[in-house]
Amino acid sequence: MPSEKAQAKYPGLDLAKLEPVFEDYAGNKDGALIPVLQKAQDIYGYLPVPVLEAIAERLEAPISQVYGVVTFYAQFHLEPRGKNIVRTCQGTACHVRGAGKILDALKEGLGVGPGGTTEDLRFTLETVACIGACGLAPVIMVNQETHGRLTPDGIPEILDKYRK
Ligand code: FES
Repeated sequence: MPSEKAQAKYPGLDLAKLEPVFEDYAGNKDGALIPVLQKAQDIYGYLPVPVLEAIAERLEAPISQVYGVVTFYAQFHLEPRGKNIVRTCQGTACHVRGAGKILDALKEGLGVGPGGTTEDLRFTLETVACIGACGLAPVIMVNQETHGRLTPDGIPEILDKYRK
């Protein structure tokens, strides 16, 4: 069971939700680490420290190994992420067509910089290299949707769409 100390540091974090995941892998601890981490991230949206500790304990893996995996794979996140992931392209085609100003408008609209998550956990802002839609430059993606031929003035309206 999770330690009381770990639970106290993250009020509201219910480590009991991991139990069914551990049960699924009870007979197969070798090779379980990545799928267990994936399922844990599905549950909590990210991987807080007590979750990593609980996984290390239950899979009888050194915590260093758990951190090693989590920091190696880009799919894992140690910090909470927003419900909407905004990716702004900074590739060459977008860059020459004003991606810098689009990024400025996003920073202003969200109040966070690249890598940041809004306090209400609605948005995480990321920069990416070319997303393969250069003909529409400058481009952003919000979740799976592409928005192209953007101007800074159009950014607030796009963000508002995802605030609902
Ligand atoms: S450079 Fe932005 S989509 Fe290709």
